[in-house]
Amino acid sequence: MWKLIATFGALVTVVHGQSTPVESCASNTGVLPINTFIHGCGAPPCVFTQLEDAVLDIVFRAPKAINNMTTLATTYMDISWIIIPVPYDLQENLLTCNFVTNTNCPVREGEIVQYRLNMPISTDYTVNAVSPIEIRVVDESDQSPVFCLRTNHMIVTENSITDN
Ligand SMILES: *[C@@H]1O[C@H](CO)[C@@H](O)[C@H](O)[C@H]1NC(C)=O
Repeated sequence: MWKLIATFGALVTVVHGQSTPVESCASNTGVLPINTFIHGCGAPPCVFTQLEDAVLDIVFRAPKAINNMTTLATTYMDISWIIIPVPYDLQENLLTCNFVTNTNCPVREGEIVQYRLNMPISTDYTVNAVSPIEIRVVDESDQSPVFCLRTNHMIVTENSITDN
């Protein structure tokens, strides 16, 4: 009964919430989450600003009972025919369970989980170039996929955003 109520609540959130269109991953495994909203991004490429956090609100279904989860984000830079994976340093934000907003870990099989990822954008990453990014959550115990999403993004410097 509580599971039904929780599922219904999450679906209501999805219906009334916002979405960003995202694709299935190409370099990693994992099904798409139920809903993804990347703040400030109605249509990719999503523009992220240096020294700010990119914020993603994600709703996903736990594929099995999981004690602990880890978040990973990787961009794929195309350097003349060679694709170089560049991992993002998520710092403490890689601890998925600390940022689950509607429940607590461990999660049950089939549980609908609402999750907010704050992704710090340091000055280490390439700016003004559109590149794909894959964001995924894995089971911390065996690295098996929980979900994976892919989108295009571009990082800009702090002062390059003009109001429009
Ligand atoms: C979850 O995994 C992280 C990363 O391996 C670890 O630091 C943390 O202690 C784990 N949390 C629990 C409750 O096991």
